[in-house]
Order: sequence, then C-alpha cells, then structure tokens
Amino acid sequence: MVEKSGRFIDNAQPLYNLETTITGVTMADKQESIHGQWTGRWGFILAATGSAVGLGNIWKFPYITGENGGGAFVIVYLMCIAVIGIPIMMAEIMLGRRGRQSPINTMTALAIQSGHSQKWHLLGWMGVIAGFLILSYYSVIAGWALAYVERSMTGAFNDSTPEMIKTLFGSFVANPLQLIFWHSLFMFLTIVVVARGVQGGLEKAARYMMPGLFMILLLLVGYAMSAGDFSKGLNFLFAVDFSKITTNSIVIAMGHAFFTLSLGMGAIMVYGSYLPKDASIGKATLIIAVADTVVALLAGMAIFPLVFANQLEPGQGPGLIFQTLPLAFGHMPWGSFFATLFFILLTFAAWTSSISLIEPAVAYLVENRGITRVRASILMGVSCWAMGLLTVFSFNLWSKFTPLSFISIFEGKTIFDLLDYLTANIMLPWGGFFIAVFAAWFMAREASMDELALEYRWLYNIWRFLVRYITPVAVLIIFLKLVS
Ligand code: PFF
Repeated sequence: MVEKSGRFIDNAQPLYNLETTITGVTMADKQESIHGQWTGRWGFILAATGSAVGLGNIWKFPYITGENGGGAFVIVYLMCIAVIGIPIMMAEIMLGRRGRQSPINTMTALAIQSGHSQKWHLLGWMGVIAGFLILSYYSVIAGWALAYVERSMTGAFNDSTPEMIKTLFGSFVANPLQLIFWHSLFMFLTIVVVARGVQGGLEKAARYMMPGLFMILLLLVGYAMSAGDFSKGLNFLFAVDFSKITTNSIVIAMGHAFFTLSLGMGAIMVYGSYLPKDASIGKATLIIAVADTVVALLAGMAIFPLVFANQLEPGQGPGLIFQTLPLAFGHMPWGSFFATLFFILLTFAAWTSSISLIEPAVAYLVENRGITRVRASILMGVSCWAMGLLTVFSFNLWSKFTPLSFISIFEGKTIFDLLDYLTANIMLPWGGFFIAVFAAWFMAREASMDELALEYRWLYNIWRFLVRYITPVAVLIIFLKLVS
C-alpha cells in the first residue's frame, strides 16, 4: 500500500524488476515507490538540499580548504561541482526516478531493462557500504555540534581567548566518554527520523532550519567583516595560486564535490525514487547545487577572516570551526544566544544529511528482507553506532594509531582520517564514475531523454556529453595521476 501523502510505510511488499511494455514505456511511468513519494517538487528539493547541506559545507569545506592552501583548491572544487557534480546529480536522480526502488534494486531493474548484466546491482551495494562508513564518523562529528549547543547555552565562550577555546576543544575530544555520549544521542535522533519516515517531521523542520542557517551564516560573515581580517581571509579563499596544488589535493577537491552534494552512493538516487514524475530534474539539480555551494563559501568567508585576525593556523584540521567560531560568538553582543542557535542549526543540517546516508540501506532491507522500516532503521543505526567508536577513539586513545602509514598517501592518518579518505575520495568518485557510465553508455538514449525531460534538446546533449566523456575521463585521469 502506498500512502499518497508520501509518508513511508512499514511492511511494504517487495517490488522487483521493472517490466518493459511493447511501447518501451516502463512500469515506472505509472507507479511510484512502495515507500511513498515526496509531496511535490519542493518537497524533494528541500529534502535533497537537506541531504547536501551539512557538516560537509560548514565543518569540512573550511578545514580541507585550509589544509590544501586555499584559492586554487577552491577553484578546482568549484570546477568539479560544475562539470562532474551537476551532471552526476542529474544522472542519479534520473536513475532513481526511473527505477523507483532502493539503489540496489533500481540498478538491478534498470540493468535488466536495458539488457545488461545484473551485476550492476553491486554499484548499489558499494553505495550502501559507503553510506554506512560515512555515517559512522559523521555522527561523531555531529555529536560535537550537539555538545557545543550545551556549551553555548552555558556561556562557555564568553570573552575567551584563542588559547582558552583551543583548550576547551582539546579536552573535549580527549574524553572518549563524552564523545560517545553525544555520538549516541545524534545516532538516536537519526534512527528516530528514518524510522518514522522523512516527511513526517523533518521535511517540515528543514523548511525553517535551512533559511535560519543561511541567515546566521550571513550574520557571521558580517561579524568577520568587522572584527576579522576580512581581506586576508578573502584573499586566502579566492586568490588562485596553482603552485599550491598537488595531485592529492585535486583528488580531495573532487572527492569533496561528491561528498558535499551527497553523490556517488545512492543517497540522491533513493531520494529521486520518491520524486513525482512531473518534477523537473534539471531545475531541481541546479537549485540544490547552487544552495550547497553558497553555504560552503559563506562558511569559508566567516571562518578565514577570524583565523587570520587571531593568528590561528588555517590547516589545523577537523577542529577548525570549533576553534574559530566560538571566538566570534564569545565576543559579539548576544553571543551565547547566537552560538546556541548556530550549533542547533548545524546539528539540524547534519541531521537532514545523516538520514539520507542510511536511507538506501533501510529502503533495501524493507524491500528485500521484508522487515519493517522501524526495525531496519534500528539495525542499521546500531551497527553504524558501533562502527563510530573507531572514530571516537581516533581523537583520543588511538590518536597515534596510523595503521596504513607505510603507504605514502595514508601516512600519519588515523582511522577517522582513513575512513574519510576512503569514502569521500575513493568510494564516492568511483560510485559516480559507474553511475555516469551506466547512465550514458548502458542505458538507452531514449530512456534517459524521456526521464530527464529537459526543456531543450541541446541541454540534453550537453548533459549526455558530460556524463559520457568528461565525468568518467576526469575521474580516471585524476586517479591514474594519484597512483602513478
Ligand atoms: N552532503 C553531506 C554534507 O555535505 O554534509 C554529506 C553526505 C550526505 C554525503 C549524504 C554523502 C551522502 F550520501
């Protein structure tokens, strides 16, 4: 049974392969996913933007930009968003809506439909594994944001110096029990929402939270303009010096384009499977990608001026926002209030992303194993929580444990660093590579043209050219350079 309002249903019956009718029209044209459907185009855009905008924009983008030298890295990242990210996002949504099932079953169905090997379902599996690994550490970092809500409320940052903020952060991450507590709380929140279905509460919350986050970022940029070293910050972010770029930083920039847009692992594909037939994939993609990029750039513009005005180190790593923004809040009027609001909104941004990380796995379990959505969410959430302990310990007990240091690109990387590198920089781009190859080389041209339904034929031709040649070749070249 499918409930029209779009809420996910428990105990839904499995739905297997799509049948092709004589006219070449698939069953997908008539049906919707057994899990329901978004309330409309805006429901989807909101949910997909919720998935895209998260810790990747506000926590990760600034610190990897800091570690990779600034401007040139930002340009490579923006280019990757434009020529790789946007076309792949369109491809993922298109495949999802065509298949109308979890990514694993969607890939099986579409492969059969286009007369190719069912092995394509392995792409869905790779996505499930990537999502699982990402959520394991994502939840730990989101737990930091939650902990900082508490700190902000108690006015912990008021009038503090950079050293005090640094010590506060240092002693927080050094305490595994604290990290486990906040990680557990965040994972619990994720399970609750995935179990209830996305549209019940979170879609509505996202409607207010996203604009709220945007406003508070503007406020922070305004503060950075007046109190920070704004010109030095902007210079760092936008002045391009290609001598600072290495192959590894190109891989990281490309990986981040996938990570920040939630691409390459089926999250956007599964969201696409709940998209009504009449919504425009092209326009939705553009809105999501622009919103995501603007949020990341605003975060950078808020943080780097503060970094330079306080003689902080831009390349200090994952603690960057937790050691710069509290400084701003500690010195502005109404600081505790704004700090509390900011970390609540950051937690929300992370929350709307984390649910999309396990949705592909949960949808699969409901479809194929016949278990309820509630059980599937608990099963995935609890295992992911356990895996997250590896990340918790990477910041304290095992902070010196760098198991793959004998390989040069993994030198000095903790388990958390390795999980992040493996998922964002290797699994997502390769997932994206195969999504592009499938959509452009294996799926019938008529099928993708019909499903994308772009307004102009030339737009479709550009899209097809990009996913056929540019995207796969770019991923391939970048990796060949990395290993050579
Ligand atoms: N896009 C999210 C962020 O920027 O925080 C992270 C993410 C969500 C990555 C979902 C991948 C994904 F499938």
